Amino acid sequence: MPRVFSGIQPTGAPHIGNYFGAMQNYVTLGEQFGKNSLYCVVDLHAITNPAASDPRELAGRTFDMAVANFAAGLDPAKVVFFAQSHVPEHQELSWVFTCLTPVGELERMTQYKDKAAQYESVPSGLLMYPVLMAADILLYKADTVPVGDDQTQHIELTREIARKFNHHYGETFPEPKAVYNQGAVRVPGVDGHGKMSKSKGEASTIGILEPLDSIWQKLRAAPTDPQRVRRTDPGNPEVCLIFDYHKLFSDLDTIQLVDVGCRTAGIGCVDCKKKLMEGVTAHLEPLQERAEGLRADPDYVRDALRQGAQEARAIAAPIMDEVRHKVGFLKL
Ligand code: TYM
Repeated sequence: MPRVFSGIQPTGAPHIGNYFGAMQNYVTLGEQFGKNSLYCVVDLHAITNPAASDPRELAGRTFDMAVANFAAGLDPAKVVFFAQSHVPEHQELSWVFTCLTPVGELERMTQYKDKAAQYESVPSGLLMYPVLMAADILLYKADTVPVGDDQTQHIELTREIARKFNHHYGETFPEPKAVYNQGAVRVPGVDGHGKMSKSKGEASTIGILEPLDSIWQKLRAAPTDPQRVRRTDPGNPEVCLIFDYHKLFSDLDTIQLVDVGCRTAGIGCVDCKKKLMEGVTAHLEPLQERAEGLRADPDYVRDALRQGAQEARAIAAPIMDEVRHKVGFLKL
């Protein structure tokens, strides 16, 4: 049976890119593979980003990320859901992998280059980010990793690290594969500047737990086809991010209606956005209600995380023992 692993950073509120790109697949694979699917709030990764690691906020964000995933349909009784810092073996395996990974390979990672360019002094944790990610996945010998397409290069490196370990120390790890949610590999930001991203801040994102009136304000202001200047101009839905969002939130009839309507100037951008908002509301309102319920019961969330960490450690411990043995650490 496949073993599934994925992680999500508590660097900000989860947005519709995380939701459609990854979280929906967590739920689908969780239903298929039960306790053989592991999901982790990666708080160790979060502190590679100094801007998102305020110690007064990190614990709350980790809690909120659990709430968001449970509200989105992940049932912690059926899958393994935990926080990364509660399973110290992640760091131990990460160190072994660090010693196998050339600095040059890490410096070539696109996300590293993009993020490092923002700092005068680059934290070395940022360079090691993908090594820790490989440790997350391989600590459970996972072979299936639901992610958005921005993580493709990191999964490639994970495969490379698995190959290298197997070569040095003997066959141990599988070479994991990324699985994508085909319709949503890269959800665009609502500001119209590239991918939606937590690290770009609130202006780029539509949070899945964001109040609906705030979402509407952002959609109302969002750019559409720049060639469509007047209401009577025909537009091109293929270059409009509102149409991208329709494909995520609206039913097929509505998608067809706005597609044809836009091309023939039969529908204006404001009405098209209102139609989108109906889909957004239908989708997110029940999710937000579930999140409210979960927030009102923090003990349930904490107990679920405690239980999840125990379940994760039970899988990780023998694999880590095997690694210690193969690497040659003295056993007493
Ligand atoms: P994070 O928290 O940045 O993103 C969580 C997931 O959301 C996907 N994603 C998107 N998908 C489509 N469109 C977007 N605009 C968009 N933005 C984000 C990401 O691809 C990701 O799947 N490095 C990981 C965290 C991680 C991890 C792991 C993942 C740590 N260890 C082990 C898998 C396995 C990340 O980027 O998280």
